[in-house]
Amino acid sequence: MAVERTLSIIKPDGVKKGVIGNILNRFETAGLKLVAMKLVQLSKKEAEGFYAVHSDKGFFDELTTFMSSGPVVISVLEGESAIAKNRELMGATNPKDADPGTIRADYSEYVGENTVHGSDAPDTARTEIAYFFAETELVN
Ligand code: CDP
Ligand code: MG
Repeated sequence: MAVERTLSIIKPDGVKKGVIGNILNRFETAGLKLVAMKLVQLSKKEAEGFYAVHSDKGFFDELTTFMSSGPVVISVLEGESAIAKNRELMGATNPKDADPGTIRADYSEYVGENTVHGSDAPDTARTEIAYFFAETELVN
């Protein structure tokens, strides 16, 4: 096991539902520490850049329109196996398949509005953190 950092986004549906505090509480309770955080509304272009890996998918336009439709909370979480731990707390991409008690099972209506993003591997975590935060914005 190793201490890792991962990028988390509370998507516009999560912010609208008023569950920012509840989601952050789940991270902290699981032993993930916040090392950076901001509340922002992404432009369509910023959302497209962030999700560039999905640019050839049928859901790309809907996804990036949704991600730029309202404020989001972007944070960097740090802890032992932070990437996998965050993905476990999130639950499966499609909330219909998400285990009971996960964020997506508890708060998400459908796959297009699934409340949270989390990096899926060490290399994507590094790229995604650098997309939104300067090194000087990460606390030690
Ligand atoms: O977010 P996650 O890593 O679990 O899933 P992904 O496969 O990287 O897809 C990114 C996002 O695209 C998902 O979180 C969904 O919001 C959206 N998506 C969708 O709308 N329809 C799909 N069939 C697959 C993904
Ligand atoms: Mg993903």
